[in-house]
Amino acid sequence: MAKAKSAYVCNDCGSDHPRWQGQCNACGAWNTLTEVRLGTAKSARTERYSGYAGAGSSQVQTLAEIDLSEVPRFSSGYSELDRVLGGGIVPGAAILIGGNPGAGKSTLLLQVMCQLSQQMGALYVTGEESLQQVAMRANRLSLPTDKLKMLSETSVEQICLIAEREKPAIMVIDSIQVMHMADVQSTPGSVAQVRESAAFLTRFAKQNNVAIFMVGHVTKDGTLAGPKVLEHCIDCSVLLDGNGDSRFRTLRSHKNRFGAVNELGVFAMTGAGLKEVANPSAIFLSRGEEQAPGSVVMVVWEGTRPLLVELQALVDHSQLANPRRVAVGLEQNRLAMLLAVLHRHGGMMMSDQDVFANVVGGVKVAETGADLALLLAMVSSFRDHTLSRDLVVFGEVGLSGEIRPVTNGQERLSEAAKHGFRRAIVPKGNAPRQPIEGMEVIAVGKLTEALDAL
Ligand code: TYD
Ligand code: MG
Repeated sequence: MAKAKSAYVCNDCGSDHPRWQGQCNACGAWNTLTEVRLGTAKSARTERYSGYAGAGSSQVQTLAEIDLSEVPRFSSGYSELDRVLGGGIVPGAAILIGGNPGAGKSTLLLQVMCQLSQQMGALYVTGEESLQQVAMRANRLSLPTDKLKMLSETSVEQICLIAEREKPAIMVIDSIQVMHMADVQSTPGSVAQVRESAAFLTRFAKQNNVAIFMVGHVTKDGTLAGPKVLEHCIDCSVLLDGNGDSRFRTLRSHKNRFGAVNELGVFAMTGAGLKEVANPSAIFLSRGEEQAPGSVVMVVWEGTRPLLVELQALVDHSQLANPRRVAVGLEQNRLAMLLAVLHRHGGMMMSDQDVFANVVGGVKVAETGADLALLLAMVSSFRDHTLSRDLVVFGEVGLSGEIRPVTNGQERLSEAAKHGFRRAIVPKGNAPRQPIEGMEVIAVGKLTEALDAL
């Protein structure tokens, strides 16, 4: 006797529970479990047999036998997007593209799809905007519109039926949060619907060898709705990030089955849509004439390339019992750690000072190679001592005050030299074997040496 199977899914984090309970075990949220009917479950025995019968069509091969001759990737037409995806779009890939409202997800995908539709079947499914709105935008951006197929639909079953008929090579679902399936008894937008729709579309992508981009909105706390469930079923997850007042948008991958993660692509939102930024170092460095204390340029490593960014620190006498430590674009804990190292090994006490640190241009830096630059920026502001304009810094700072090498030191130095920097303070382990033309490299092994080099 077939019995309806159901699961209880948390609306916040998307984790599964076999029975209803007041609090989600995974994220600790209260009253967020909703029942999801998963269709009928057969008894274990019939399931085994029916599974066995259905397995007839699948074949076992060795890894070596798998045909690699078909071109596994195609270009999206945007090298910044290709780089983030690991070198292009893989047929049959399910790609989730997340971002704040207004980040430019729809614009980017519309541009990509209009270009790609010239070479292959492309289907753009919009559940949020009307067809007229999309068409107006495409016309305004002067995109080629004659070949792109459009569909306004939110039912996943309908979309897949139509896609089966149209046989596109690439599809866009804008957005996954408005999609719903009739089988799932839950309102559109709920975690259960999003998760089932994404899983269904991912299966569809694999079976029909069509690459699918799914647009996902980001919740208040900056995560994709139902992040865990979405992330494990899709192949790539990329985030289009940009704060409201900057026209620059960064595209970063958080999961990629076909390439490295943490690649960075940079776009600029202009009156004529999103444009690629070929030389991001130049924009993040656009500095005024006057150099101020507390400002230093560092070289960070983003995926496969170096990026020059300016870091600013402001150290000021505090009126508060607990002085403020604010880091924008950097990790707060790292800032606290560096202040301790500075006190203990550099003899500089800032416990009565407010410390603010900011990465210019809204870039987020997560790597430890920024330590030394942050430390020197704080010292520069604390001593009210302006660093020279042509100085560039990178390196990790250890707890015992040692300066540790970082990866790709040579490439970082070359990038800085290319942008006209003449002096560099780097870890000893990153000292170049051959001198770099036009650049004086000061290799330091200890915090005290770095402070002396200033
Ligand atoms: P959109 O792609 O609709 O964002 P999302 O789908 O991520 O929510 O982008 C909308 C924003 O981009 C909107 O605030 C206006 C801006 N924009 C431009 O500045 N120039 C343009 O050419 C376009 C199309 C949009
Ligand atoms: Mg949109």
